[in-house]
Amino acid sequence: MNITHVVHKLLDAAKVMRCPEIFLLLPTCSILHEQHNVIELVLPLAVAITDLNETAMKSLKEYLSSMDANIMTKHIRMWKQALAFLLKSNLWVNYYPGMKAVLEVLKLLYRGNKRAEKSKKVPLSEFYIEEIGTTPQLLEQDVMLWMYIKCELVKFAHQFVHIDVVSGGFFREMCNWEVPSPILQLKVRRTALLEDTFRQLNNADHDNLKKTLVVQFVEDSKLTEVNKRDFFLHTFNELLAPKSGMFMYNDRQTMIWFPAKPTLELKQYFLFGILCGLALYNNNIVHMPFPLALFKKLVNVKPTLEDMIEFNPVIGKSLHCILHDYPDDVVDDLNIPFCVHWDGADVELESHEKGESVTSDNKKEFVEAYVDYALNKSVEQVFNEFKRGFYKVCDEDVVNFFQPEELRGVMVGTEEYDWDTFRQV
Ligand SMILES: *[C@@H]1O[C@H](CO)[C@@H](O)[C@H](O)[C@H]1NC(C)=O
Repeated sequence: MNITHVVHKLLDAAKVMRCPEIFLLLPTCSILHEQHNVIELVLPLAVAITDLNETAMKSLKEYLSSMDANIMTKHIRMWKQALAFLLKSNLWVNYYPGMKAVLEVLKLLYRGNKRAEKSKKVPLSEFYIEEIGTTPQLLEQDVMLWMYIKCELVKFAHQFVHIDVVSGGFFREMCNWEVPSPILQLKVRRTALLEDTFRQLNNADHDNLKKTLVVQFVEDSKLTEVNKRDFFLHTFNELLAPKSGMFMYNDRQTMIWFPAKPTLELKQYFLFGILCGLALYNNNIVHMPFPLALFKKLVNVKPTLEDMIEFNPVIGKSLHCILHDYPDDVVDDLNIPFCVHWDGADVELESHEKGESVTSDNKKEFVEAYVDYALNKSVEQVFNEFKRGFYKVCDEDVVNFFQPEELRGVMVGTEEYDWDTFRQV
């Protein structure tokens, strides 16, 4: 029996016995660090790990956050080498599920390392994958690293889908990168940017959204790459302006959110979702001054009071005071009605009688209900339309690799949105 067999037997055993310890052992064996074993051994290991049931996954995560740094380093190196090998040889196309599993495992390690106590942490630079492209030394913050890998993955996933569709699977055999790319063309008038854009997105075949975007301005027939940037810049500026009627604004007019009572058709939000998806897919940073709550919701993370504080510090901080700062008797004396004031309307909360006040007993429930109303319930339909549009373009599995902060980073960039300049324009 050769070593490959042994490893496969071990993998099978680990699966049957639900024994994640074996998975921790294997990456320290030098044989799994050899390139010619990536396909045979490393990928099946990655898939087996990602297939673990919830209980086994939980104990695996615990192991990972208490692992010694030198062992962690060995693990990271093995997965990185496997990834680099696949990327360099373009083999990932044939082994896409395996590669995705490798990224999932790297993510587990990354999070485990983040949770680990200081003496057991490995430097984040261990996670850099030099082989992917440009200089990773430029990536300073830890989130940048994952953004970077994940952006690559988004692009890869798209190219994969795209090329595979065009070649009818032929690509898989030939690994031919020179397939001519069909396009998604938007032809718009600068003077009727939103109207033209939304009309064409509405008529676009959803299968075409993942194709290369080409923007043409009617006034100017030249086709350049600059057009795309120009297009996103101006459409988003027009969308954000009060005139579009798409959003509500916070008190200081620094951020936007979905309105509780939309005046436009729900379909507009679906199309706006497609537009945002196209921006991400085409690597265009856009002006989208949403609170983090939006990006949380896109990756199924529940917004919290922190998100409320970000969007509306006055309301958010008052809620925070009620919940954490005021003594019970003060809360009881405040006589705050148990209802939400949001987007210009007073809303009674379900299961509470008219005239009921906030007390020290129900304050927790009150704050939760407030945040849930503002960031979830009041926008449920609109947000769901937005999300549906967004994921018509982007692959939900891939986007779910992102932390909300990272997703915001890749979509909006890190610069603060300059609302004053925008208003002057
Ligand atoms: C959002 O609100 C709906 C009800 O409108 C509820 O079913 C859902 O659980 C809420 N979502 C979250 C993340 O709490």
